[in-house]
Amino acid sequence: MNIKKICCIGAGYVGGPTMAVIAQKCPSIQVTVVDLNEARIAAWNDTDLNKLPIYEPGLAEIVGEVRNRNLFFSTEVEKAIEEADMIFISVNTPTKTYGLGKGMAADLKYIELCARTIARVAKTDKIVIEKSTLPVRTAAAIKSILDHTGNGVQFQILSNPEFLAEGTAVKDLLAPDRVLIGGDDSIEGQIAIAELAFIYSNWVPQERILTTNVWSSELSKLTANAFLAQRVSSINAMSELCEKTGADVNEVASAIGMDSRIGHKFLKASVGFGGSCFQKDIMNLVYIAQSYGLQEVADYWEQVIIMNDHQKRRFGRNIVKTLYNTVADKKIAFLGWAFKKDTNDTRESAAIYVAADLLCEQANIAVFDPKVTEMQMKSDLDLVLAGCDETCSRDVSMQEDAYNTCKDAHAIAVLTEWDEFKTYDWQRIYDNMMKPAFIFDGRNVLDRKELETIGFIYKGIGS
Ligand code: UDX
Ligand code: ADP
Repeated sequence: MNIKKICCIGAGYVGGPTMAVIAQKCPSIQVTVVDLNEARIAAWNDTDLNKLPIYEPGLAEIVGEVRNRNLFFSTEVEKAIEEADMIFISVNTPTKTYGLGKGMAADLKYIELCARTIARVAKTDKIVIEKSTLPVRTAAAIKSILDHTGNGVQFQILSNPEFLAEGTAVKDLLAPDRVLIGGDDSIEGQIAIAELAFIYSNWVPQERILTTNVWSSELSKLTANAFLAQRVSSINAMSELCEKTGADVNEVASAIGMDSRIGHKFLKASVGFGGSCFQKDIMNLVYIAQSYGLQEVADYWEQVIIMNDHQKRRFGRNIVKTLYNTVADKKIAFLGWAFKKDTNDTRESAAIYVAADLLCEQANIAVFDPKVTEMQMKSDLDLVLAGCDETCSRDVSMQEDAYNTCKDAHAIAVLTEWDEFKTYDWQRIYDNMMKPAFIFDGRNVLDRKELETIGFIYKGIGS
């Protein structure tokens, strides 16, 4: 096989970890990750591995091992494209915030820009791989741009969706359930598929490398995320019913999870799913279904989002109701801001929406998250509070440690399931809070009995 140089456009949560693992497993291939964002590239090149722009367990160790050996981070996008045999596109595809498909369709402007840059710069044949989650048939758009360059360069477009979950990215990349490669039926398409499969075969068993046509591959990614999100919304729907009836959602989840047809995973009731993929991909699916006139299909999947929005909203409402129907000028401590543990990513985190609702009830919020910066937290909130009037409080701050965060608070809201929360001196936290002291455990991670023995009033999800 012939691949000597790989270029990855986009040094984000997908591009960074994926290329680090490819570089580690394929020492003879030179991998260059490029990004327009200079600060992000500088952070990837920082000699202090604690300053990498993305926190993932195990990632800093791999970057430390392979960076400047065969893994490079650079802002020289065109140079890296020109030199590469294989180009991964890992740029962001956020939901459109304007025009047709606003709030639903994926904004493909970053993808299109990449395709146009590749078309302009490439002088030799290239395999171009869609890594970012894209709506079905995006490959056709990329192909159309690349095929009209008129300079005789041949491009093969593959879809190779990423199934890694943040917080376990390295583990997922090293031992994936499957690697999916979608390509063209033509001989050239099949050769391109084989080139990419060969790279993965350096560490992934052959039977886990699945090849399909491009559209099946693109749609499989949306389908996988829709199914996973649907499980979370399903258990969250049951959590509300459990609260009304006296059933315990944790017990229900254990009971149904033991049915081998259902299984245990993705049955943790929560304050709502977040992350960059679930909401965006389902909205995408809904938009695609609508554009084919499949309204019932669209409505079916949209309900997963409606349930998730309801779950976030009802968590905030429950806090207000329990604190005697007012949180005005009361301090509420947030433990966790990231959308799940072991990541510094906050995209679509439930914490943002719960905080916004409580600020509109004029609460004061103090936040602690082991990996999220105050700047990130404030920029998340600015976006959501942009449409609110001046009656909404803006009194929110990020603290250095959990003990200060909870001091003098009326209630604690657990928004992320960081393991360290379980190890805290909860008696000390209780002693320094206003009484009665409430805990709203949005992740059902703390020990209810222990907290109730101390004196806390504990409210979990679904019990
Ligand atoms: C997801 C997919 O899992 C991954 O395959 C895809 O490539 C990208 O999208 P990610 O968003 O990183 O990954 O995290 P995931 O572990 O799927 O969690 C998503 C959200 O669902 C989180 O907010 C998580 O807390 C929540 N969740 C998950 C629950 O509330 N309950 C569960 O049982 C599982
Ligand atoms: P993901 O979670 O999908 O990896 P991120 O937002 O973390 O998404 O990363 C995407 C990266 O792609 C960002 O760092 C962004 O600056 C980069 N990017 C977007 N468009 C381009 C482009 N045309 N050329 C190079 N990098 C780009």
